[in-house]
Amino acid sequence: MLLQDQVALITGAGGGLGTEFAKALAHEGAAVVLTDISEAALAGAVKQMEEAKANYATFVLDVCDKAQVEQTMAKTVEKYGKLDILLNNAGGSLFTPKKLEEIEEKHWDLVLNVNLKGTFLCCQAAVPHMIARKRGKIINLSSIGGRTASLVTGIPYAAAKGGVIALTRRLAKEVGGHGINVNAIAPGTVMSGQRMIDLWNELTEPQKDDILNSIPLGRLSTAAEQASVVVFLASEMSGYLTGTVIDINGGRLMA
Ligand SMILES: NC(=O)c1ccc[n+]([C@@H]2O[C@H](COP(=O)([O-])OP(=O)(O)OC[C@H]3O[C@@H](n4cnc5c(N)ncnc54)[C@H](O)[C@@H]3O)[C@@H](O)[C@H]2O)c1
Repeated sequence: MLLQDQVALITGAGGGLGTEFAKALAHEGAAVVLTDISEAALAGAVKQMEEAKANYATFVLDVCDKAQVEQTMAKTVEKYGKLDILLNNAGGSLFTPKKLEEIEEKHWDLVLNVNLKGTFLCCQAAVPHMIARKRGKIINLSSIGGRTASLVTGIPYAAAKGGVIALTRRLAKEVGGHGINVNAIAPGTVMSGQRMIDLWNELTEPQKDDILNSIPLGRLSTAAEQASVVVFLASEMSGYLTGTVIDINGGRLMA
């Protein structure tokens, strides 16, 4: 097992990708702390962790709330004695409009706060626990929407996910000397839950065809295909990788 005795904390773990990531990390031997703003979403994830006979804990956590973030990191270390892996997964376009004229200031604030500020707050609170042990793995969720202009989501999402890449690089530079790796993944479209199914269904047939035709592998991604890269980044197999963003998009964007 690649992550035996490791302790991982995931934000937004009740969502489509988050729960898949939690299962994949647990499958490799990690104790997984699942956090989410939604108790109901966490309950769904718990069912799957029970079925997988995983070692896990759950905490309700709004990643935009600095005090809650700090308390949750501390509670994790209190329970498991350490924090090895932080997976900043909470995010998405959060049901905000895509068209420029429909985007209100509150939509911009919500998307930037959850995706970008939340990632920053979690990194800031986790890093001291990692520095104390001179090791850590931070994995941030960017998106193809932050790498290139994507039709599926709007400007706030693009700005937030582009920001996550910049944050990843800058933090990697700052904490590399403490044995902490900081990397990001940029998934293409993953059919990982209701949010994605709704976004996909909002597209016209020609738009869907355009996207599928632009993917050399000719299909959308499964959540498991994203999770295998997260496991790689969480493990020592990626020991010399930091400040990178890995595109997992079937070849839709090659950069
Ligand atoms: N699914 C895709 O195709 C895709 C593609 C690229 C990037 N991503 C990114 O992957 C991540 C997960 O996406 P998903 O498809 O699983 O989304 P999802 O909507 O299924 O899950 C997101 C989870 O985040 C939680 N959340 C929302 N606001 C929060 C907050 N303030 N604090 C804590 N939790 C909060 C939600 O309750 C939900 O459980 C997101 O960052 C998303 O932008 C997804």
